[in-house]
Amino acid sequence: MSATDTQYAIIAGSGFRDFGGDAAGTLVDTAFGSPSGPIRELRYADRTVFLLPRHGDDLSIPPHAINYRANMKALEQLDVDVVIAINTVGAIETRGHPGEIAVPDQLIDYTSGREHSIYDGKGDIDHIDFTNPFANHVRNGLLRAAQSADVHVHDGGVYAVTQGPRLETAAEVDRLERDGAAYIGMTAMPEAALARELGMDYACLSLIVNYAAGRGEKPIHDDLEAGTMTAKMQAMKILRVYFGATEACRNPVGRYWDSS
Ligand code: HPA
Repeated sequence: MSATDTQYAIIAGSGFRDFGGDAAGTLVDTAFGSPSGPIRELRYADRTVFLLPRHGDDLSIPPHAINYRANMKALEQLDVDVVIAINTVGAIETRGHPGEIAVPDQLIDYTSGREHSIYDGKGDIDHIDFTNPFANHVRNGLLRAAQSADVHVHDGGVYAVTQGPRLETAAEVDRLERDGAAYIGMTAMPEAALARELGMDYACLSLIVNYAAGRGEKPIHDDLEAGTMTAKMQAMKILRVYFGATEACRNPVGRYWDSS
């Protein structure tokens, strides 16, 4: 696959409702049912990037009720190679603050009861290697784009994926920290594993929108709106560079990047 025919998709979460504009989008049907909403096309310079609204156009689908298999299968059917998952997270470590961006390098899955595999017992199974759940070349591309865009990002850290939709107790956050987590969110799993099963390279651009439960000085919801707004602006700057501002960033799978 050459860098030029790489097909990209963004999965956008809360706070990105207006990202795709008013275009009608395509309703893609899959063997696992319908994805969360119509898939739209974004233009970045001379590149088209698919945009899938993870929680639906009206943000009505909570994390535990998302049809992750249909979402990821729909992207595969559109021949997507690289998926950038925008998600919101709470920060456990003091190094992350609301309004900032993280590009995690590991995850721990605490979710339950989600349809988490394309293998449903009817055919051959591939036990995917999930040692490194996020694609290095996508992570590195995002980090380099952030650097070019002059946006500070937190490189690495463990994303703890919780079931939600409620936020955590303070004791749960203490436990997640003991487990090594830096960030808590609700959607990276099973997304990341399904992407791997379907052969797509996946990484998270995580918007830190609050301090995790028990870690901030204010009630969690006091941080959310401002944190989301600021982090969103930063994420958009990174994406603009990643997809188009410079030749190097236009070829994130090419020789400019670590493509391991
Ligand atoms: N916990 C879990 N998911 C989240 C949080 C959080 O604090 N903030 C945004 N998504």
